[in-house]
Amino acid sequence: MARADRFLRACRRQPTDATPIWLMRQAGRYLPEYQRLKQQYSILELVKNPDLAVEITLQPVHAFEVDAAIIFADILPLLEGMGLRLRFVEGNGPVIDNPLRESADIDALAIPAADEAFDFTMRAIRSVRQSLAGKVPLIGFSGAPFTLACYAVEGRSSKDFASVKRLLYNQPRMWHRLLEKLAAAVANYARCQIAAGAQAIQLFDSWAGVLSPHDYHEYVLPHVRRVIGEIKEMDVTIPVIYFGTGTAGYLPLFKQAGCDVLGVDWRISLSDAWAQVGDDLALQGNLDPAVLQAPLAEVRRQAACILDDVKGRNGHIFNLGHGVTKETPVEAVDELVNFVHEYTRNGTMGA
Ligand code: CP3
Repeated sequence: MARADRFLRACRRQPTDATPIWLMRQAGRYLPEYQRLKQQYSILELVKNPDLAVEITLQPVHAFEVDAAIIFADILPLLEGMGLRLRFVEGNGPVIDNPLRESADIDALAIPAADEAFDFTMRAIRSVRQSLAGKVPLIGFSGAPFTLACYAVEGRSSKDFASVKRLLYNQPRMWHRLLEKLAAAVANYARCQIAAGAQAIQLFDSWAGVLSPHDYHEYVLPHVRRVIGEIKEMDVTIPVIYFGTGTAGYLPLFKQAGCDVLGVDWRISLSDAWAQVGDDLALQGNLDPAVLQAPLAEVRRQAACILDDVKGRNGHIFNLGHGVTKETPVEAVDELVNFVHEYTRNGTMGA
């Protein structure tokens, strides 16, 4: 079995020979081979060039024994396809020059036909599948409606999401109209990725944890449910991973989104998370990305804590609780990936 199907089996909570592992943002700035390309091209140029996107997607698959590839793209070009003007400012993150302000802005948003508007990503997916030739599965992804709305309304990264909250509390109908449009765009984008060859879909709801459980339930959940429903309508066999941070206070609500795998951060133990959501769901996570800057012995110790906590259970996909940071040493990633396989193969889980 090994590398080829560990990840997809774990998504379905089937037994595996070792715990699968991949890392969010595994293709990126901590890799010298990515840095070299980044000296010549902007992030959007890399995403929009299928040959380069393929190359970057494969870099971590060649460098480490990770059990899945994730297509090199970003969550924000979808907003560009909807009519927003997106820039990445070096050292400052993404900026949208025409953030959503009033009702007419939302009316003006397009729902792009993703196979055409994101032809570069669809080509990259087809090409990666060919290059991988079954070595490891390929994950497609999108931002979830709420997290996309955060960027579309704030116009940049935010700490308190004041504009988003002002909109949803003051103009709830407008808010729901925006999330309906985003949900339609996300569902179409995800379905096109599946048609092109993505074998699982991860929805990044990175900022969903900034809301109260009540507000998440009222203002966000119905729209994520719709996205996952539309993906499942197309192909029920494609696992959907729903990831958020700061969600420990409302995991059972998150589960209602209808995903197969829940991605959690390090603020809750996986056994506590499973106690809350029940056994009929796989879990992905949840090492604090900061641990990768610790001595290798500490990396191993922290990983073992997580693995011991879920010992004997099917349906765990090892990952970080958020993306790899750019300061991460390559050796720490290599050590973590190998340790997770060795520890679960020889030690605790059996075959
Ligand atoms: O995981 C992978 O290896 C696939 C590629 C991937 C990127 N972005 C490439 C990227 C994925 C899955 C993403 C998701 C993404 N993008 C999220 C959700 C995950 C999360 O971290 O919460 C978000 C919020 C974004 C938006 C975004 N893109 C920001 C805020 C930034 C700038 C700051 C940052 O974290 O780097 C980006 C740029 C970006 N997207 C880079 C990469 C490799 C860095 C660009 C560079 O090389 O400077």
